[in-house]
Amino acid sequence: MNILVTGGAGYIGSHTCVSLLDKGHKVIIADNFYNSRKSTVKLLRQITSKEIPLYQVDVTNQSAVNKIFSEHQIDGVIHFAGYKAVGESLEVPLTYYWNNIISTLVLAKASRKYDVNRFVFSSSATVYGDNEVPFVETMNPLPTTNPYGETKAMCERILLDFSRANPKLSVALLRYFNPVGAHESGLIGEKPDGVPNNLMPYITQVVKGKLEKLKIFGNDYPTKDATGVRDYIHVVDLAEGHVSAIDHIQKGAHVYNLGTGRGTSVLELVKAFEKANGIKVPYEFVSRRPGDIAICYADASKAKREFGWTAKRDVIDMCRDAWNFENQSKSLVEYK
Ligand code: UFG
Repeated sequence: MNILVTGGAGYIGSHTCVSLLDKGHKVIIADNFYNSRKSTVKLLRQITSKEIPLYQVDVTNQSAVNKIFSEHQIDGVIHFAGYKAVGESLEVPLTYYWNNIISTLVLAKASRKYDVNRFVFSSSATVYGDNEVPFVETMNPLPTTNPYGETKAMCERILLDFSRANPKLSVALLRYFNPVGAHESGLIGEKPDGVPNNLMPYITQVVKGKLEKLKIFGNDYPTKDATGVRDYIHVVDLAEGHVSAIDHIQKGAHVYNLGTGRGTSVLELVKAFEKANGIKVPYEFVSRRPGDIAICYADASKAKREFGWTAKRDVIDMCRDAWNFENQSKSLVEYK
């Protein structure tokens, strides 16, 4: 199939392009490089030895998006492009609502106009809010603590209504847990600008000497070792989940968790990193981060049952590949 991947130069998008191309699909990337780099597309061509048409466009621009649909016979859309920083979304909520929702509407309208009937959306486990674990797709979403999370819940709702009105449409709403790690080549991975918000890039930058020590947010949670618990998933497993989804989705709108089903605490992840790479991670405990929940992990059985996908890589693989990427990738300036 020819798959339009919006945000295809981003962290999860780029790994998904590799997995799609590996499985014989063709990929067209639309990205405005707001939070990604053009050089990543070159690296994708290098990793896969495949042609990848690239459109440098903002996906909120309807005529620019229509142009892509008119120039290619597109069979499916995977929509990653979106703003994703929880803290930033509290500072500039309108920017988040505008970008994340308008881009989804624009793509849905173009899909309708050009009769493209497969649509995969990047959602997030954040829509479960502070539900009981494990999070199951049948649970009612709860209000999230931030505009970013709300945009994910709203886009799910928009696509659900879109599919109800268009019986030919197949929509997969993929709720990601905590993607970490990198492609085994070390050429693509997570490269946040500035000080990272997420745990794994913070750890790699501490070990690299770019940051002094890891601040563990809270050691008073009701968890196995009092630190926060998350379902970390290797980004390549997550990418393969998208290929399974685009290949197998049925008519209608369907929600799938993409997680491993295992909870790992912050301290366990630190220990796994030390074991995988033979390096100490200096850390200290600080107070909880506002908005964080104690425990989050998936019931990952639905994706396995319905499209045969399951995460194969463990936390040691994630830590090894994240560190390999940090060591291989050049400094931001050289990289751009
Ligand atoms: N943590 C630290 N120190 C840090 C960063 C994180 O102790 O410097 C802790 C957090 O408190 C949490 C865990 O590490 O317990 C994971 O934190 P992340 O920031 O890496 O990830 P979150 O679980 O907070 O959020 C991630 C994505 C969101 C997404 C959510 C879905 O960033 O976009 O997973 O569950 F919505």
